[in-house]
Amino acid sequence: MEYQLCPSILSADFNRLGEQIQTLEKEGVKWLHIDVMDGDFVPSISFGMPVIRSIRKESKMFFDVHLMVSAPERYIQDFVDCGADSITVHAEACEDLERAVELIRDAGVKVGISIKPATPVNDISHLLEDVDMVLVMTVQPGFGGQKYIDDCTEKIRELRELIEKEELNTDIQVDGGINDSTMETVIRAGANLLVAGSYVFNGDLASNVNRINRKMQEIINTVE
Ligand code: DX5
Ligand code: ZN
Repeated sequence: MEYQLCPSILSADFNRLGEQIQTLEKEGVKWLHIDVMDGDFVPSISFGMPVIRSIRKESKMFFDVHLMVSAPERYIQDFVDCGADSITVHAEACEDLERAVELIRDAGVKVGISIKPATPVNDISHLLEDVDMVLVMTVQPGFGGQKYIDDCTEKIRELRELIEKEELNTDIQVDGGINDSTMETVIRAGANLLVAGSYVFNGDLASNVNRINRKMQEIINTVE
């Protein structure tokens, strides 16, 4: 199983965005988590295509675009055109989730589906073999810096069991409230892609990445 730390640029200093992305890349980070919010599916508004297009020019990282947007089907091609490598849509935001998955697949990028903390795994379990990744939100989507919701751990466990039972390679990503202690909880429960915003960006970026990666590896060694 491939484990990755996926820094969320929602917590970046936008005045120095390019420089911070270069730092991540220099420190060996492979995935960049990009949170797009529309002020409708979630209360807040973040950024969209122009920002992604612009950072794409100087980065070779894997652009993991998390759409917290109502009816995201409308924008799949736009996000592919501006440089997404994977697109994750929310089950709660799509009228026809199967169709959204198909659209992303046909557009030639990796497919992710996400569930909010109150949405049961059961709502998406029929799609596990059609997607590359399931994103389990571990806070209410919309803002960085929130506290991890403990009830979500069980959903990660449930998903990992299903994936193993069906002998699939589907990744499990978690997003929200990841820190020194919750990182261990989510890895033990079966998550392999860890989104982190404030944990990575608060303080010195390069030394945070090094410290977090080391700690993550220590935990992985004990579960494998
Ligand atoms: C929240 C976003 C997250 C956010 C995580 O809606 O999807 O990606 O940046 O921030 P932290 O890690 O600070 O909880
Ligand atoms: Zn996110």
